[in-house]
Formats: sequence, structure tokens, C-alpha cells
Amino acid sequence: MQTLAILISGNGSNLQSIIDTIGADRIDVVISNNPNAYGLTRARKHKIKTVTINHKLYDSRDHFDQTVHKCIESFDSDLIILAGFMRILGASFVQKYKNKILNIHPSLLPKYKGLDTYQRAIDNDEYEHGVSIHVVTPELDGGQVLMQGRYYLEDGDSIETLQARGLKLEHQMYPELIQMLMEGKLQIGKVCEPIEFTL
Ligand code: GRF
Repeated sequence: MQTLAILISGNGSNLQSIIDTIGADRIDVVISNNPNAYGLTRARKHKIKTVTINHKLYDSRDHFDQTVHKCIESFDSDLIILAGFMRILGASFVQKYKNKILNIHPSLLPKYKGLDTYQRAIDNDEYEHGVSIHVVTPELDGGQVLMQGRYYLEDGDSIETLQARGLKLEHQMYPELIQMLMEGKLQIGKVCEPIEFTL
């Protein structure tokens, strides 16, 4: 049975959608760098093991990454799912798990890598915005895009309205893609075009 390690930093709504669709028994551990992340509470409610690795207690990124690595290694998970994990993992960590780490990002990559994607889309008068699920490589938000979902901007849109539309997509896209990978219907490295997801 394929299993997951899920890394979070905050609310954990994506984590919740994965628990609800794929099942808590498929999740080896939820790791948070933020001791106050609500996602930890969500995981505990489902009796999933949780580990807090507070980045503020580490003197370097490497040291933090090594601790995360040791933790994940002890579970032998098949996939590492970044779900609102707000730390950048260093190249040596990422290379240890080549083609095994996924991230969900609120933009139509390669557009709008990094933070504040909703605000930047509004500022640039974009007519569309969306969500991408990509393989994690040492380049920030730069790995192969496996799935994308898009929506269109409307007059009066704000960060909040875009985020609500984006999260609705995220909560369906992430479990669906993870399921496809776990069932062997999709293999990382072999996909050419991103799957277009529509609600
Ligand atoms: C999501 O919008 C995700 O795309 C981004 O961080 C947010 C996390 O939300 N990387 P949640 O913690 O899953 O509710």
C-alpha cells in the first residue's frame, strides 16, 4: 500500500481534503514547521501521527532539512506532499527524494512563482488565474507541472474571492492527482502536458 508524508505550515485545508478522499490510513505522518498550525489539530482528530519541527529552533536550513529528512526516512513514505508548507527545502533534500515530492501552488505556473500570487494577478489585470500541482525540484516552483486548474477573473475580484475559488479547485485537484499516482495511472517523469482539471 502506497503511503504519504504530508508537510504543512498552517490551516491544512488541503490536508483535510486528502484525509477525506484518500483516507487517514494512507498518511504515515503530518509534519509541521509551525507548532500552531491548525492542520496539526485536523491530523490528530483522525489519529494521524504528527511531528512538529520548528524551523526557528534550527541554526541553518541544512540542519532543519536534515531533521525533516530523518523523520520522513523513518516512515518510508512513497510520496511527500507539500500542502501549504511555507519553507523552501534545500537542493540536497530535494535530490534525495527526486520525483517523489509534490507541491500545490496558487497560480498557473510558470506564471507567478513565489508569494502573493492573487494580488499580482489582480495588479496585472489578468483574465485568468489558477492552481498548479508540480514536482518539486531545487528551483522554486519550477518542477514539471502535472495538473492545472483555471478560473477567470471577474470585476470586483479581491484576494479573498480569488483565494476562495482557488482553494475550491485545490481541494479537488490534489486528492485526485495523488490518487492517480498511488494507483499507477500516472507516473512522474512520463507526463508531457499538464492534465487540465475542470470542476
Ligand atoms: C494553498 O493555497 C496552497 O496552494 C498554498 O498554500 C495554501 C495552503 O492552504 N501553497 P491550506 O493550509 O491547505 O489550507
